[in-house]
Amino acid sequence: MKFKRPKGTKDILPSEIFKWHFIENKIRHITSLFNFHEIRTPTFELSELFSRGVGSQTDIVSKEMYSFSDKGGDSLTLRPEGTASVVRAILENSLLQSSSLLKLYYIASMFRREKPQAGRFREHTQFGAEIIGSDSYFSDIEVIMLASELYSQCGISNFIIKINSIGKLEERNFYISELKKYLKSNLEQLSDDSKRRFEINPLRILDSKNQNDIEITANAPKILDYLSHESKLRFDNVVNELEKLNLKYEIDFRLVRGLDYYTDTTFEFVSKSLGAQDAIGGGGRYDGLFKQLGGKDIPGVGFGSGIERILIAAEKNNFNFKTAECIKLYFIALNNDAKKIVYDLIIKLRKKNISCDTDFLNRSLKSQLRDADKLKAEFVYIIGENEIKKNKGILKKMSDSSQIELGFQELINFNFNIEN
Ligand code: HAM
Repeated sequence: MKFKRPKGTKDILPSEIFKWHFIENKIRHITSLFNFHEIRTPTFELSELFSRGVGSQTDIVSKEMYSFSDKGGDSLTLRPEGTASVVRAILENSLLQSSSLLKLYYIASMFRREKPQAGRFREHTQFGAEIIGSDSYFSDIEVIMLASELYSQCGISNFIIKINSIGKLEERNFYISELKKYLKSNLEQLSDDSKRRFEINPLRILDSKNQNDIEITANAPKILDYLSHESKLRFDNVVNELEKLNLKYEIDFRLVRGLDYYTDTTFEFVSKSLGAQDAIGGGGRYDGLFKQLGGKDIPGVGFGSGIERILIAAEKNNFNFKTAECIKLYFIALNNDAKKIVYDLIIKLRKKNISCDTDFLNRSLKSQLRDADKLKAEFVYIIGENEIKKNKGILKKMSDSSQIELGFQELINFNFNIEN
């Protein structure tokens, strides 16, 4: 039997890992510029964390979670998203003292049993960032800026920020009752999915992809008309700031997001490069989540972005990820005595931070040279019988095939960076 990877998962092969490293390094660089700090939480949590945090009626919790009972009888779930885990970790470890602020980020696998398609996986890697403890609209802007900066530095220029406000719980509840009144008269024409959502999660009818649903909801009441003065002011402030920063945005009354914890600002970064799954990233405020998970009334805002989608969008924009990672020096030993010398040199050079490798398959000179070429080695150092006698090997620069004789000890002190 030939094993295959589970549906909706992927292997990231050595030939493409440099793109992942590039994006991950960019994330670490930009988060440090913005003063975010990394947090790592467990891959699985008690299932109740997500049903309470994300919402038991959401698609993620009701249909897509990988949950299981362990031998002790606990119901556990592979995390489908990161925010609930971060909030749990902050509460459990008492990370937030009064009037303090946390800026946290993570790069972690998320698991959702969705129908796989281009850009949609059952395990994806998400970069997420959260600002905890501030309700200033500038913290909304800070996370939007963080995402924008990352996308720009990955060569993604054709994104637009869809933005909306879903208000506070009371405003939203009143709006939902008005929305339901409107939808009730069209209930029969709605898709089966939307009919089901009418009772359990009517807001999600607004982001249905069904053409008929889209036409019906085009004239539905709009949530922005139901916001309190305070929520409207916050929304206007965020939008004005986007305007000032020259970021391309579009107000979208359909942007309700698929997680229940959001309040006020919601946003999504969409890119035409992505096709049907056009969200590179998304997020919003979640001022009620801490209370929902047993904490005090602490505000928060954040976003998440699938690295796979960043990669797809960057590639569609013909981004040059720099060349694949390569080694500095490849050693070719032409007999057993040479091999011993080579290994001694390799150990010494690696201690000097020079990346090097050699042949472990006893191949011919020609195929070792081919191997060095495949590995994109910058230099090759060859030792055979003659070279052992002279205590000198042949150093070849691969880019122009020039070569010099260089003593074994001299090689260790050779300045590869300047010479290249
Ligand atoms: P989300 O919109 O569910 O939000 O996911 C965030 C991003 O993760 C999406 O925009 C997309 O780039 C990526 N993503 C989600 N599901 C998949 C999938 N099946 N395959 C590939 N990529 C996917 C959240 O998860 C929130 N926790 C974000 C957040 C943080 N809100 C506030 N703080």
